[in-house]
Amino acid sequence: MSAELIYNDLKVRLAKLVPEPEIRIKAELAYRINQLKKEKNAVILGHNYMEPALYHSIPDFKGDSLELSRIAAKTDKEIIVFCGVKFMGETAKILNPHKTVLVPSPKAGCSLAESITAEDVRTLKKRFPGVPVVTYINTYADVKAESDICCTSGNAKAVVESLHTDSVIFLPDEFLAGNVARETGKHIIFPAQFETVARHRDSNIDYQMIGWNGRCEVHEKFTVEDIENVRRQFPQVLILAHPECSPEVVAASDYSASTSAMIRFVEQHQAPHYLLLTECSMGDNIMAAHPEKEMLRLCSIRCPHMNEITLEDTLQALLKTQYIIEVPEEIRVRALRAVERMLAIG
Ligand code: 13P
Ligand code: SF4
Repeated sequence: MSAELIYNDLKVRLAKLVPEPEIRIKAELAYRINQLKKEKNAVILGHNYMEPALYHSIPDFKGDSLELSRIAAKTDKEIIVFCGVKFMGETAKILNPHKTVLVPSPKAGCSLAESITAEDVRTLKKRFPGVPVVTYINTYADVKAESDICCTSGNAKAVVESLHTDSVIFLPDEFLAGNVARETGKHIIFPAQFETVARHRDSNIDYQMIGWNGRCEVHEKFTVEDIENVRRQFPQVLILAHPECSPEVVAASDYSASTSAMIRFVEQHQAPHYLLLTECSMGDNIMAAHPEKEMLRLCSIRCPHMNEITLEDTLQALLKTQYIIEVPEEIRVRALRAVERMLAIG
């Protein structure tokens, strides 16, 4: 597609969201990226949280963490450019050790991935011997390497149920764990209760899930009060909450699922308004694809890490082959087991 065609397409989609001169600049960048992508035999994967001009111009594949992991596992391209955050690039590298995986900014971290270390997991395994460890994909490779199986927001319940054990350690997202516990009817304990449980081992304190206190710095900000305010003003609104929101927020919403499932839900419903309780680019991206959908713009919460990924940096990533994701082989092979076990679940 020529720069002019990209510009025309973006202008139609983003007229209400991005000023015209910016669209012109972004279309030029997107054109150069798409040319380089072909020359370098690269594939670009774009997470649903990418900003709208990037999201609608350069990714070969767009999706949530699970979908993009599945695509990364199958690609035959030599270079994978992951327009997402570092843990996503690491997952692609775990699955493709002989390919070059690039994440366009070295600053694209994640508060959940930062919330737990491999040493924390080893300590937990000693404290709860024999209990399988389920680790959210939003973790670094060394944490995955200590785990039995990974999960994403799209399959967390299915992964926990697939284990058929009395209890599971579920790390590190306190809220995702709380939501899975609620859905599966399991009782969950968190670190503040570990000592009590250890002291009263004989008194049969009932728990089937063992959680951690990691939180997403974006999703923890949404409150039940936000929901009540919006429902008062827009009684017919459909409210969708990502499962990294608190169990109270999820319970007060109409739907909760992975980012891609949230997009599909909006596409398949006919409501006068929608409110997404997640990273706010998602609402912009839906509006750009479906101008007839009215997304309430009450949220201005951007993930600072996803926000690091720009068209400018993606161009530099391809030009300079930066920033290369590396995972030590000894960690990679152990993390691969946990990721592949997850991917084997339908
Ligand atoms: P999804 O897997 O639902 O896309 O979520 C990823 C994420 O980081 C949400 O904050
Ligand atoms: Fe991590 Fe939250 Fe950003 Fe997702 S939105 S990448 S969980 S900090």
